[in-house]
Amino acid sequence: MTQDDTVLLPIMTQSPDSHLDETGGLLAGTSASDSRSVVVAIDGTSGSGKSTTAKALAELLAGDYVDTGAMYRAITWWMLQQNIDVHDAAEVGRQVGNARVEIFASPSSFSVRCNGVDVSADIRSVHVTEAVSAVAAVPAVRETLCAYQRDLAGSAKRRGSAMVMEGRDIGSVVLPDAEVKIWLEADLAARAKRRAAEGEGPVAATTERLISRDERDATRAVSPAQMAHDAVLIDTTFASVDEVVATVLEMVHERMGTNAGGPHVAT
Ligand code: DC
Repeated sequence: MTQDDTVLLPIMTQSPDSHLDETGGLLAGTSASDSRSVVVAIDGTSGSGKSTTAKALAELLAGDYVDTGAMYRAITWWMLQQNIDVHDAAEVGRQVGNARVEIFASPSSFSVRCNGVDVSADIRSVHVTEAVSAVAAVPAVRETLCAYQRDLAGSAKRRGSAMVMEGRDIGSVVLPDAEVKIWLEADLAARAKRRAAEGEGPVAATTERLISRDERDATRAVSPAQMAHDAVLIDTTFASVDEVVATVLEMVHERMGTNAGGPHVAT
């Protein structure tokens, strides 16, 4: 798979008895256990469908799900709580060690805590959304969270669990050895509409925020948001969640040699 492999959806032809909304539907007969310890990196722009896709995939694989954006948001939430100027990179770097982030890596009940406080809801505020790119650009913040993210992937591997991790640099920097790497993209208008529907505010303001956040994330000096050279680009503008998930699941099976009816390839 190469960067040139843009997947144009819909491309899946599902058999009539395959149901994505029932765990085991598409996995039935394909031996889910063979894909047990697969690591899937799902990166992409804001509003491209990363979370929905990653959660659904993790459910189907009965694996762990990690939203790395939530970690950056949790640290940002704490900085704001402490009245730390998020644009003072040196101060943010000095303080990051005082914010202990912990996540519960379940696709059905993912949650994030900071210094023992469950901040899963608070990190979605506009206040945090507007400040998070600045915090995510600080090298010490990235080093701290990157180490934690690698620990989580290592722990899943040791348990024989699949890991679906979403973010901006998972395939390129955090988990370069991930077996499946996806970059999700969608038109700006579609992304703004999705984010606005999720409660981020009016479409016009959401569009402005998306443009500036994507620009800051893609141009920061350390670990910019970028598609890994061996990731597969999926355009989700006109695709349903089911179609995107089915496409990624098919890639997992191909990569792990667990295609229904196909030969099992030892990895
Ligand atoms: O996916 P999200 O919108 O919750 O991400 C919040 C911010 O964190 C966004 O500005 C991008 C940044 N981020 C990052 O720099 N690296 C990641 N692996 C995940 C998110």
